[in-house]
Amino acid sequence: MANVVVVGAQWGDEGKGKIVDWLSERADIIARFQGGHNAGHTLVIDGEVFKLSLLPSGIVRGGKLSVIGNGVVLDPWHLVKEIDGLRSQGVTVSPETLMIAENTPLILPIHGELDRARESQNSVAKIGTTGRGIGPAYEDKVGRRSIRVADLADDATLETRVDRALVHHNALRAGLGLDPVDRDKLLADLRAIAPAVLEYAGPVWKVLNENRKAGKRILFEGAQGSLLDIDFGTYPFVTSSNVLAGQAATGTGIGPGSIDFVLGIVKAYTTRVGEGPFPAELTDEVGQRLGERGHEFGTVTGRKRRCGWFDAVLVRQTCATSGVNGIALTKLDVLDGFETLKICVGYELDGQRLDYLPIASDQQARCTPIYEEMPGWSESTEGARSWADLPAEAIKYVRRVEELIECPVALLSTSPERDDTILVTDPFAD
Ligand code: IMP
Repeated sequence: MANVVVVGAQWGDEGKGKIVDWLSERADIIARFQGGHNAGHTLVIDGEVFKLSLLPSGIVRGGKLSVIGNGVVLDPWHLVKEIDGLRSQGVTVSPETLMIAENTPLILPIHGELDRARESQNSVAKIGTTGRGIGPAYEDKVGRRSIRVADLADDATLETRVDRALVHHNALRAGLGLDPVDRDKLLADLRAIAPAVLEYAGPVWKVLNENRKAGKRILFEGAQGSLLDIDFGTYPFVTSSNVLAGQAATGTGIGPGSIDFVLGIVKAYTTRVGEGPFPAELTDEVGQRLGERGHEFGTVTGRKRRCGWFDAVLVRQTCATSGVNGIALTKLDVLDGFETLKICVGYELDGQRLDYLPIASDQQARCTPIYEEMPGWSESTEGARSWADLPAEAIKYVRRVEELIECPVALLSTSPERDDTILVTDPFAD
């Protein structure tokens, strides 16, 4: 039986929700392995819209185990809110359907405050974050001062952990002009929320390994996109976790050899939210048109996404760093009606042609795209369910994308409806 990792292969918002939902129907377990409630996944099931930020998409389907791995940073108050919202939509959430790793670090209110304070201080520090405390929570994890899920179970440990964190945070807050943390309130809030989190706490690594041995199918659901990876993304304009497929192993406690297929989600053009380099960005009416046709507004923050042509250089790179076996190409229909389409096939930097995005920020900012032009198509591709439904130019576009990124299309998604999908390779096939 196969275990599949799904990762975004651009800057996030590639349309993972629909694909993950489609795959989660075939999976026994769905696991998140990084990020937190900065993600925004929209699922449409039988006409009903579910919006998830923290919980794995499988939660909306009965009979599955959803898992939050240790690679995630968890805001317990948000967790309760999201669970309550789902319950009001008739979804069952119980310890039988949800497990949270005991070694998952928590996002505290002070992390969100710090995130927002830094973002509003000055333009030098601004990343354009979601303001949800993701970065500061990961800093505390690596700084060995996190409060983790298991700490909520023992009051003495909880107090020690809080004190350890506050030594650091109060010094930092003083420098930023923020009041010291109200220790007693923070402790009281944590004690109050603890039972609602501990109800789901468990040894995720053990449960996943047992299920793997029993031949169950595990779907690892990535959030954000590879270009936001803390190591391989457009640093410092990135999120604070590793989002590449390798993180599925360390972010849940399963060996890398247990991953059988990596599916990269790729949008037929490019978008990004927040600050940072974006070589193929279009600030003209073409970019405007892509944004309008693609409804490119952030699910979490409502911000308008920056849009540009498909950048094959970046996707070839992210397919390599995540070891992508096949891609799911989404939103092809947004390109319907363009007379000519462009694909970025290289960059020009200081008179040289590059076939990859360099690491140095100043070089990234100076890279100008080299485009290849292709004829567009006037017909609609929306809702196509077989290659025969697609205009010849659209097929040529898809084939050229495969060639340039050196990775085959496993799935082609042609509308938000789950059946509007052309399946080439089933990632779960034996
Ligand atoms: P943070 O993850 O809130 O720290 O934000 C860091 C960067 O990642 C910002 O540019 C955000 O816009 C971006 N980001 C975070 N989560 C997502 C996502 O789910 N989709 C797209 N961009 C995201």
